[in-house]
Amino acid sequence: MILKSLRTYFNNALLGYYPETEIESFFHLLSERILKLKRIDISQSLYAVVSGKKYDKFEKAIDRLKKYEPIQYILGDTEFYGLIIKVNPSVLIPRPETEELVDWIIKDCKDKKSISILDIGTGSGCIAIALSKNLPNASIVALDVSSDALKIAKQNAIDNEVEIEFVEADILDWDSTNMQFDVIVSNPPYVRELEKQMMSANVLDHEPHLALFVEDDDALLFYRKITDVAANILKPNGQLYFEINENLGESTKELLTEKSFNEIELKRDFFEKDRMIKAIKS
Ligand SMILES: C[S@@+](CC[C@H](N)C(=O)[O-])C[C@H]1O[C@@H](n2cnc3c(N)ncnc32)[C@H](O)[C@@H]1O
Repeated sequence: MILKSLRTYFNNALLGYYPETEIESFFHLLSERILKLKRIDISQSLYAVVSGKKYDKFEKAIDRLKKYEPIQYILGDTEFYGLIIKVNPSVLIPRPETEELVDWIIKDCKDKKSISILDIGTGSGCIAIALSKNLPNASIVALDVSSDALKIAKQNAIDNEVEIEFVEADILDWDSTNMQFDVIVSNPPYVRELEKQMMSANVLDHEPHLALFVEDDDALLFYRKITDVAANILKPNGQLYFEINENLGESTKELLTEKSFNEIELKRDFFEKDRMIKAIKS
């Protein structure tokens, strides 16, 4: 089959499942990966023959896209803060708003001579790895309860040539470490069950629920526990950063105030939603 016909076939197969612009974007991403063709080269290669093996890869991708599987899982990676991060269904796909959180920490910490950081709920390792890449004086520990997530995170650290200490642990059941940190960061599960109905099938049916959901009646469970842990293992004046549920900015702020953290700063993301918070240990 020639590329032109493949493109028509691809578009028709996914019509009704996704908007046309999205289908076009999937085609470009897959062509780049499978055919090694950049977007601008596609129009000049429309009459190139696509081999049976490569055609099969498009066919498989179509089947997975029809099940609303995220394109990042199909490609096997995504870009985060300029880095390539491998992903599979055991890790959350890193989000652009998390890049904003990373950016905040890097700006705050870039002049420090040495700094120790703990990333709680590391998933793919995206936060820890981006911090390590951009804060060369940082020593970083990253923790997750999921051994499958940690496998990917470790591979991502190797691929991106950074050294991170990974720990498998349940933060809700974690009460002792001799280590002390300058910075603790976490993007913990924060989506309430009641918010499920607003989520699209590609998130709900494919991303790990362990990474996403908390009970409606205790939405700040992780924030409370992590703040308690931080009160013990942050150095004096240490910084605690969270990504937060856009609807729970004020309650997260109250929680941090109750736990005697100071200089609390709530920040909005690119979409003007309360998305991250920073507090200093007194
Ligand atoms: C929202 S995801 C964040 C992943 C990654 N840090 C990111 O920003 O893309 C939350 C992560 O917390 C982990 N997690 C869930 N429950 C946990 C627990 N009790 N202890 C430690 N990690 C937990 C999940 O496995 C998941 O990787």
